[in-house]
Amino acid sequence: MAKMAASVVESGEDAFRKIFKFYKRRNPPPDFRDVIDFSRSVPGDQVIPAILDPGRVSDVEAAKVGLQPVRDWRAFGLKGYPGFMFISNPFLLGSKPFWVRQCLKTYPQKPNVCNLDMHMCPSDTQDIWDKSVHGLSSPRSGKTQPKTLLDRLRWVTLGYHYNWDTKMYSANNYTPFPADLQSLSFQITSACGFPGFNAEAGILNYYRSDSSLGIHVDESELDHSRPLLSFSFGQSAIFLLGGTRRQDPPTAMYMHGGDVMVMSGQSRLLYHAVPRIVAAPQGHPALEMEGCSLASSRRNCSVVEPLSEQDWAVCSRYTQSARVNVTVRQVLGPGQSFSETPSSHQKTDADQTEGPHDHPADECGKRRRVSSDTVET
Ligand code: OGA
Ligand code: MN
Repeated sequence: MAKMAASVVESGEDAFRKIFKFYKRRNPPPDFRDVIDFSRSVPGDQVIPAILDPGRVSDVEAAKVGLQPVRDWRAFGLKGYPGFMFISNPFLLGSKPFWVRQCLKTYPQKPNVCNLDMHMCPSDTQDIWDKSVHGLSSPRSGKTQPKTLLDRLRWVTLGYHYNWDTKMYSANNYTPFPADLQSLSFQITSACGFPGFNAEAGILNYYRSDSSLGIHVDESELDHSRPLLSFSFGQSAIFLLGGTRRQDPPTAMYMHGGDVMVMSGQSRLLYHAVPRIVAAPQGHPALEMEGCSLASSRRNCSVVEPLSEQDWAVCSRYTQSARVNVTVRQVLGPGQSFSETPSSHQKTDADQTEGPHDHPADECGKRRRVSSDTVET
């Protein structure tokens, strides 16, 4: 157990919640000394090198999706968390802006589903980006400006659309999963020793500086032997990785822009949460400028394309104060399909706590989704 955790948690009683509140606290701000920062030198008593399979992904395949050669990735494991992998920003310089643009401009579009669809008619949520860019790319005037749709975007679902109320996926709520994100996920999971990963569902979370994501386990997928992937862009976050029980005190780590996490094996069903968004470290701009030029040399065969200057300006401004997280999941195992009547085992222990997936804008323990949107509409 970390030093801080030992002093905050006296006995085992919901240790996760105590540490969540510790890191969420504003006044006085918490001590961040025990937060593992994989972008810096890592504590040898907690962090171990992760084994990758560089032969699985050629440098060309990696570059197509904006990744460095696998042999150059800085990949780590955590002692006591078998199956957990942290890859510290494996993206090629200048390729992150493309993925941020996909998250802000492309993935919120129909047929994908977003929080704004819950209380707006389809024509009003049709062109979130186009309806928002004017306000975002022009310099802010002194006056407070009305919130754009992009400001109010909180989540997007892809592929098998996660149902926040039933906490289930279903065969009849599916739209094609974006091919570019599927390809990125395939290359990363291949390098991590999971060939044949099939990205079937995605949840994008959009965080402001005061957002958090409650304590949960991602267990709605039917096949838990497949890894869960998580990508971070923009501002940084404190991520807490706990155990299989709420009494297990979590380990705190930073997720910076470009960082990738893989939760597999015994770590696939661990409690986790994001108690706090923190500023990206100095000297690591949220989005590097090279975005406009880099990919042009690979234009012919690449998934990653150069951004227009306006797209870059909007993405850069957005990520100066916000964080985007993308989780990618394989829902079904090989040959598996949804049963006619959903089995009750899909709704188990997380229901007794606070739901497997609270919305980031909500307080830990509150019901997700509706609250922040209703306030802001
Ligand atoms: C999730 C999740 C973590 C993050 O969406 O299930 O755990 O860093 N996200 O946003
Ligand atoms: Mn999760």
